[in-house]
Amino acid sequence: MEDKIRVLIPEQEVDEKVKEIGKRISEDYAGKSVHLICVLKGGVFFTCELAKRISVPVSLDFMSVSSYGSGTESSGVVKIVKDLDEPLAGKHVLIVEDIIDSGRTLSYLIEILKQRNPADIRICTLLDKPSRRVKKEVQVDYTCFSIPDEFVVGYGLDYDQKYRNLPYIGVVEL
Ligand code: HPA
Ligand code: MG
Repeated sequence: MEDKIRVLIPEQEVDEKVKEIGKRISEDYAGKSVHLICVLKGGVFFTCELAKRISVPVSLDFMSVSSYGSGTESSGVVKIVKDLDEPLAGKHVLIVEDIIDSGRTLSYLIEILKQRNPADIRICTLLDKPSRRVKKEVQVDYTCFSIPDEFVVGYGLDYDQKYRNLPYIGVVEL
């Protein structure tokens, strides 16, 4: 059966915001290069679009993590499913996420990556659900959109592995 999807953020609005955030990142990293870490799979569409809008030198790496825990509440303990290919020492690392909610997984990921001695680590996310945050210490440096606590798909986000390829952000009407 087809799911009904309501548009939450239209394609043009997402594209304009990604462009704007890319410009801000380019200004903030002026004179440096930025090492983007795409958190798979959800971060892949945003990472590619963002990378195209950054004018300082960009390198890319990919990581896949899964969080232990039952049901919808992750424990925050992260298992690395696919690790980075490159070392981080001395690099200006920017973690690129599709969505941040509780912040548990991200908080754990930051701790793991800090141990690899990057010059610095910042966080960039397409979407943020601030009302879901448990890990208040997680500082998000670049947020495209803060959204209410609704289940969203598109632009990398899935529902049962579907709808990642939608060019807009939508809500699945269950
Ligand atoms: N949609 C898809 N994946 C997610 C979401 C969401 O709203 N929140 C956390 N992972
Ligand atoms: Mg998912």
